[in-house]
Amino acid sequence: MQKIVLPDIPNLHQLEVYKQNGGYTAIKKALSQSPDDIIDQVKRSGLRGRGGAAFSTGLKWSFMPKTTDKPKYLCVNGDESEPGSFKDRQIFEFNPHQLIEGILISCYAIGAKTCYIYIRGEYHKWIKLMQKAIDDAYADGLVGEAMKSTFSTEFYCDIYIHKGAGAYICGEESSLMNSLEGKRGYPRVKPPFPAQNGLWGCPTTINNVETIANVPPIISNGWEWFASIGEPKHPGTILFGVSGHVNKPGVYELPTGTLLTDIIYNYAGGIPGNKKILCVIPGGSSMPPIRGDQIEGVKMDAESLKAAGSAIGTGGIIVMDEDTDLVKVLARIAQFYHHESCGQCTPCREGTGWLEKILKRIIAGKGSINDLDLLITVANQIEGNTICALGEAAAWPVKFMVERFRDYFEQKVSKEINLEVVNKVHSMRQTAITIEEIKH
Ligand SMILES: Cc1cc2nc3c(=O)[nH]c(=O)nc-3n(C[C@H](O)[C@H](O)[C@H](O)COP(=O)(O)O)c2cc1C
Ligand code: SF4
Repeated sequence: MQKIVLPDIPNLHQLEVYKQNGGYTAIKKALSQSPDDIIDQVKRSGLRGRGGAAFSTGLKWSFMPKTTDKPKYLCVNGDESEPGSFKDRQIFEFNPHQLIEGILISCYAIGAKTCYIYIRGEYHKWIKLMQKAIDDAYADGLVGEAMKSTFSTEFYCDIYIHKGAGAYICGEESSLMNSLEGKRGYPRVKPPFPAQNGLWGCPTTINNVETIANVPPIISNGWEWFASIGEPKHPGTILFGVSGHVNKPGVYELPTGTLLTDIIYNYAGGIPGNKKILCVIPGGSSMPPIRGDQIEGVKMDAESLKAAGSAIGTGGIIVMDEDTDLVKVLARIAQFYHHESCGQCTPCREGTGWLEKILKRIIAGKGSINDLDLLITVANQIEGNTICALGEAAAWPVKFMVERFRDYFEQKVSKEINLEVVNKVHSMRQTAITIEEIKH
């Protein structure tokens, strides 16, 4: 099986091993071509962002202005806070030099001399490992001013790690830039887009860790090679993080277009106790869930998942078996987005709280059938009415889960209500018995 980002090479995280396996030759090759040629190759390769929206990477790079007096920046997004997503840290741990080499090539292509890798603050271990790899690359003259003599070039680039401080919203690109500038992590209104007005008002490109790690092999092997892997409209491989009710949770690098059932049953070892699947969220907790009885034939790439009524997101596959309480799952997801809302927009700030409240009311046995419609109405009022996509991230799981599992939720609501009535009658009887006992 073709692996691009996490090849099975022992100790690849070590600089010497990376170099022995062809490391840092792609940057040499890139520097012998023009930046426009590199952007053209990445565009033709069909590489699409792995940070959630699957946007064309080469096209994004082409938005950077060619002539400007201002410095340009690359931000590599390693915030990785989406529940169900845990793949970027694999790159920090097992192939950090491919990320560094990808950064050098990307910076050369867009004309940036500075790159910030924004890493989730809780990733202490991975921040250390990534910093070690950067230090080794500096010491070997592969990064910074020393690049000039190492590669006989005028180009050079510095790389810095910036630690996040525990806010999910700082993974959103404009919020990430505010955070880097030392401001509160509020998303910015777009336009202007980062390529025009990014970090400190300068042209900036933001890409996910996995996206950038794909760049060196594209330059080494040619765009045609990359474009021929997986699904033509979304080529390459994806690091699928599989969690939940599977026998072998983990990260599996597989070509785009791999069947969801193949990933769950063959790679992740199936469901414990051979139970049935009730629900799957295919791309991290913010993506629309799919019913377990509708996963047959679903392929894992942006276009196929769109056709199946969901989205690829970050490739974080969350599997739930038939015994899962979907109301509790949804309430937990709603609680997360409510907690992480930055509070700038009313529909998100208030709406996420209402979603959580309604779902918890249902769990407490105080919900009604009307609450199901209310959940969808609130979600619809959030969607499309906010500054950033956290609004959709909060609205989609609720809206689609309730719509797609309407029968399940209706049963739950009536069951909870019935249970409440039974409990009341029971406690009334108990009281009656106690009074009887006292009388005697
Ligand atoms: C609330 C929110 C959180 C996000 N978190 C991340 C994240 O942790 N990592 C990431 O790469 N992208 C995240 N994104 C997407 C980024 O805004 C941006 O689109 C992405 O980093 C671009 O990289 P790509 O083009 O390589 O996919 C998030 C978006 C939103 C709305
Ligand atoms: S949608 Fe939510 S998280 Fe995004 S800016 Fe508005 S309030 Fe903040």
